[in-house]
Amino acid sequence: MIILGIESSCDDTAAAVVSQGVDILSSVVSSQLEAHHPFGGVVPEIASREHMAAIAPVVEEALQTAGVAFNEIDAIAATMGPGLIGSLLVGFSFAKACAFALDIPWVGVNHLEGHVNSVFLEPDSPSFPFVALLASGGHTSIYHVVSHTRMELMGQTRDDAAGEAYDKVSAMLGSGYPGGKIIDDLAHAGTPGKVSFPRSYLDKEAFDFSFSGIKTAVNRYIQMETGQMETDEGRLSKQDIAAEFQEAVTEVLVWKLIQAALKKECRQIAVVGGVAANRRLRERVAADAAEHGIQAFLPSPSLCGDNAAMIAATGYYHLLEQDPARRKSGFDADVFSKIPRPPISKKRPKTS
Ligand code: KG4
Ligand code: ZN
Repeated sequence: MIILGIESSCDDTAAAVVSQGVDILSSVVSSQLEAHHPFGGVVPEIASREHMAAIAPVVEEALQTAGVAFNEIDAIAATMGPGLIGSLLVGFSFAKACAFALDIPWVGVNHLEGHVNSVFLEPDSPSFPFVALLASGGHTSIYHVVSHTRMELMGQTRDDAAGEAYDKVSAMLGSGYPGGKIIDDLAHAGTPGKVSFPRSYLDKEAFDFSFSGIKTAVNRYIQMETGQMETDEGRLSKQDIAAEFQEAVTEVLVWKLIQAALKKECRQIAVVGGVAANRRLRERVAADAAEHGIQAFLPSPSLCGDNAAMIAATGYYHLLEQDPARRKSGFDADVFSKIPRPPISKKRPKTS
């Protein structure tokens, strides 16, 4: 089955052609970075307009690179949410229109499920069940993954996502946007431990995260240094601040992931999402997992960030589960911006 995947949940317009859910025949990602750069973050209105301009050429490029004609596609998969509504609508409506014109099945895909399935686009992939950490710009969650389409949420961030913290710390250091790769590079040249930032474990029995505390600690440290010292002499370098920030975030992410795997008695883990491209995180996951006799799976960096191959792959697994005669999603299907959060308080109401 040849599937055309379309992803437009945030600021990347992406299309990919994937065969049998695993063979990537093409994967095109068109970044909007330049359009948002002057604003230091994604501007939703601009994002929608950029998707409008990019969607047709990106899909055409994906088909051309794959050497597949429009009428050779068997089905279309498009991101349905979560994400920016205006952005999602562009890719989703485009997918519906193509499916209608070609009279082929199409399926709406959950972006987070897409990230988890990105690990199956590599030759070496985990077997079910396994535990996955998804760390991106909008989400940080741990799932017990039972199948390609069934994932139990074990914990998630109560405030900022890990990628969001990277982006904000980069902005605080005046180092630019998007911050993940910038902090990764700065930290690579720095030494952690010259200052100490808090590791927020919250409840050690639970798998929730919080990154607002470390973000505030970094900000406070930068303000204090700037106030106390008139010259740069004696100040910690950006590299050392970035290295300690990264170490603190990585330590908590990896510790919670391993604990979750131990709790579920899973010997296999995966790390997915934009932050999974981080060099220190990849190093640490490999080392700590090995120490516990656990096998770690990470997609290659190009499949960590948003892409449409993971959407096509996820669509494939959903279509396989459906009765072939009833494979067409309704054209009234709609996009969604958020998955409802469970209540923050884990305390049970007292019963008398
Ligand atoms: O998965 P993704 O491309 O989009 C979302 O679904 O959010 O993740 C983007 C996030 C951004 O916050 C970006 O700063 C972060 O992933 N990121 C990184 C790295 N590359 C991207 N964070 C840490 N280290 C990196 N090398
Ligand atoms: Zn994403």
